[in-house]
Amino acid sequence: MSIQPRDNHFKVDRDNKAKLSNSEFSFICQFVYQTTGIVLNESKREMVYRRFTRIVREKKLASFSKYCQLLESNPEQEKDYFINAITTNLTSFFREQHHFDYLIQTELPNLLQTKKRQGNGKKRLRIWSSASSTGEEPYSIAMTLHSIFKNELSEWDAKILATDIDSNVLNKGKSGIYDQKRVEDIPQHFLEEYFYQGKAHNLNNVKVTSNLQRLITFKRLNLLNEWPMKGPFDIIFCRNVIIYFDKVTQQDLFARYYDLLAPGGLFILGHSENLGEFQKYFEHAGRTMFRKPV
Ligand SMILES: C[S@@+](CC[C@H](N)C(=O)[O-])C[C@H]1O[C@@H](n2cnc3c(N)ncnc32)[C@H](O)[C@@H]1O
Repeated sequence: MSIQPRDNHFKVDRDNKAKLSNSEFSFICQFVYQTTGIVLNESKREMVYRRFTRIVREKKLASFSKYCQLLESNPEQEKDYFINAITTNLTSFFREQHHFDYLIQTELPNLLQTKKRQGNGKKRLRIWSSASSTGEEPYSIAMTLHSIFKNELSEWDAKILATDIDSNVLNKGKSGIYDQKRVEDIPQHFLEEYFYQGKAHNLNNVKVTSNLQRLITFKRLNLLNEWPMKGPFDIIFCRNVIIYFDKVTQQDLFARYYDLLAPGGLFILGHSENLGEFQKYFEHAGRTMFRKPV
């Protein structure tokens, strides 16, 4: 029996699956590595296949190779769409809770005291969420910060920078609107203080309050490119992103993060990440937390 294409656009094989050839797969891996630093290998083939299938369907193309041709002939036009479709954006509010406990119990009270002693004028505080995805990480930082500083916020020039390579997730973060289910695990007092319940057709959504939104600036930034910020940052979150890069890229980025950290500043990695060779330049501050020496 001959197998018929399932629709007009996409040819399928015996297993009802379109074929992703080895040369298409390696072209994709190469393109992703060069534009984002993300290393894709054989273990990611199924994931690439699924995401690539979605792209080809959305673009109503006849095959994977047609999209490869498009990427090759017009990379500038296709790149952003492709990167948005291929990145892994998994995140959640207060992910790796111990980092936020440390901020509330130790880091922020210490910064408050130290900076208070530094004379008159507004006290500067800068935090960078450097792979902010859909915004749960920077909003968790903002809730933590606001809960500690709220009575004296007018005395502070406090800002959180949230960056990511993926423009879709940044737009989601900017909107501050989340499905009710995503905020279920947030402590009740934070929920009451920092979220509005949606009404009418938005009943299943919540929206972050404007006092939190005001603390955060969302900006697109590819970590591989030049960083326009001057810093210094008091705290940098670099969680669950360098895991996608190779060792050379990781070490290069660690050096750049180090330069942007204030002396005594805190650098935070994700649960399965480490500094490797770069560990010797930092002091250990806690589980996956590192301090630049003063
Ligand atoms: C798994 S999410 C981590 C989100 C958050 N930091 C957390 O730990 O919950 C990884 C994020 O890194 C972003 N990313 C991947 N490569 C990047 C690059 N070269 N520059 C900037 N962001 C990148 C992805 O778009 C994605 O949103």
